[in-house]
Amino acid sequence: MDKTSLDKGIFITFEGGEGTGKSSQIKRLEKKLNKLDYHVVLTREPGGTAGAEAIRHVILSGGAEKLGADVEAMLFAAARSDHVDKIIRPALKSDKIVLCDRFFDSTRVYQGATGSVDMEFLYALERIACDDVWPDLTLILDLSAEEGMQRADARRSMNTAPDRFEKEDMQAQEMRREAFRLIADKEPERCKLINASGTEKEVAERIWQVVEPLLKRKTAKNG
Ligand code: TYD
Repeated sequence: MDKTSLDKGIFITFEGGEGTGKSSQIKRLEKKLNKLDYHVVLTREPGGTAGAEAIRHVILSGGAEKLGADVEAMLFAAARSDHVDKIIRPALKSDKIVLCDRFFDSTRVYQGATGSVDMEFLYALERIACDDVWPDLTLILDLSAEEGMQRADARRSMNTAPDRFEKEDMQAQEMRREAFRLIADKEPERCKLINASGTEKEVAERIWQVVEPLLKRKTAKNG
């Protein structure tokens, strides 16, 4: 069977605080789209290319913290630039669906709104890193900080030590949630707020309600 073709690729980003279930949901969506025979590229930030993964390690280990928040933001942007150039833009050009776990809204929230970096500086970095590549849809998974932290703690107990940003407290998580919600309010065309409480299946269904109409608009079936 031919793959389902698109007029142009589709770029979907997933955003939200710790423990909101982004990673599980993005994998579920990938599986569903594959079943429908779409070409899907699943990727994440910071990371996605060898160079960006190296930068990821420097940032998340806390190694760049001493350089200050502005430099940290530049490192996220440098990683993003490589990721956009090597993975995201080429995939969109070949009509694929790109699903990306975090993108520039994370920088706006973590480094900007709830960090100390000037928003205009961040917008300038965005333009340099992303150029013509902009998400068609951003799914913002929304969950109370308390529930998110509980989930993140449960995941960590099976996994590894908290990263540089996970160490921060509940109040910081709540502020990030508010900052993500504000972005959704400001850019309702691009951003959809998804209630991330409930079972994985329930959240996946809410996501599908938003993704399906976008696919319908952009899809032209082969044959
Ligand atoms: P990751 O392990 O991918 O976390 P999560 O599962 O929460 O997505 O770690 C990424 C961390 O980096 C996360 O705490 C958010 C932070 N981050 C920023 O501060 N700015 C950014 O631009 C991005 C992409 C991530």
